[in-house]
Amino acid sequence: MAGGIAKAYQSAEIIEGISLMRYVRMPIEVESPEEYGYGNIRFNLSESSIADQSLSSLGLTVPDLTLLYGEHRGSLALRELIVSNEPELNADDVLIAGGAAGALFIIATALLGADDHLAVVRPNYATNLETPRAIGCPISFVDLAFEDGFALDIQRLADVLTPATKLISITCPHNPTGVTISEEELRGVARLAADSGCLLLVDETYRDLSLTGKLPMAATLGSHVISVSSLSKAYGVPGIRVGWIINSDPRLQEIFLAAKEQISICGSVINEWVAEEILKRRDAFLEPTLVEWRRRLDRIATWIEGEDLLEWIRPSGGVVCFPRMKADPPGGTDAFYRRLLQDHGTYVGPGHWFEMPDRYFRLGYGWPTAEELEGGLAGISAALRSE
Ligand SMILES: Cc1ncc(COP(=O)(O)O)c(C=O)c1O
Repeated sequence: MAGGIAKAYQSAEIIEGISLMRYVRMPIEVESPEEYGYGNIRFNLSESSIADQSLSSLGLTVPDLTLLYGEHRGSLALRELIVSNEPELNADDVLIAGGAAGALFIIATALLGADDHLAVVRPNYATNLETPRAIGCPISFVDLAFEDGFALDIQRLADVLTPATKLISITCPHNPTGVTISEEELRGVARLAADSGCLLLVDETYRDLSLTGKLPMAATLGSHVISVSSLSKAYGVPGIRVGWIINSDPRLQEIFLAAKEQISICGSVINEWVAEEILKRRDAFLEPTLVEWRRRLDRIATWIEGEDLLEWIRPSGGVVCFPRMKADPPGGTDAFYRRLLQDHGTYVGPGHWFEMPDRYFRLGYGWPTAEELEGGLAGISAALRSE
């Protein structure tokens, strides 16, 4: 009997037929530093957040909370804090999710099907591409090019829309390039979506890390616009998995809530408490972060401008940039990444994490200590030259 079950389970057809969703692990997750093992990396320049915080670095001691099922939308206090600077929005427009990743999953599975169409900018944070793919939704990609400064051409976005387009999906500030669109462009994309009768998703996970002035929260631009963000990147707390969806159409919010209730009913009482405490001190937390971030960006600029084997588009948001090798390194890119890690203990995000050639890599300069950052930059320069 047991053998029969095992035999059945091994059948390729059964595994293939297991789900309507075609889940495939994404390279950015398979090869992530936490899966590879933080202990195996000396200079970790692959992260896209500021340094990870701890309860003590945040000055927090968790009180004796009652561990009940929390409010399904997320605690009211937390939702109020998230939109406290947005007079057009209120707590009912906010749904707490398991990180921005969980929010993106809810949105894609709630809105997209095999008969719909998605227009999405690429490169992008992998989930923005992979969940719609898993659903089998037809996708048009609008590819950003180094030669254009990774700028978004709204006309190209308009050109791929069809009557079946249900969703336009952009990320701003952009991961992995750190490039930001202007407020006028953001409003232009929101107008395009409205005129085309589709929804707009703006993944604004890096919004609090903007050099060129913070863009308006996208959800304030109309009830057809959906904002996604989290505390993971600018606040260095990806481990609490608190992100959110903001949208002012109650019908959409009801659908997103239904999806969340089927996934997890509600969020974690402890994690939401930590999130509230962080957001109560938002400005005090962000101020020193932004000072240090600008200093580091200048440091990266000095290094890269003196590094004749690399070129880049200087970012204006996030804590990442996406340099490009001017030529194949000795032995090719695989050999480069191997010696970078093995000989120089340095880890970066290779282009294929973002469906780009491996001559590009994402360099995260906000997470390592200043010394680790220096060690990693030296490692990259050395690995670009050594055989
Ligand atoms: C643009 C973007 N969106 C969403 C996420 C997911 O972040 P989290 O789920 O930790 O909030 C990331 C993480 O790298 C990201 O870069």
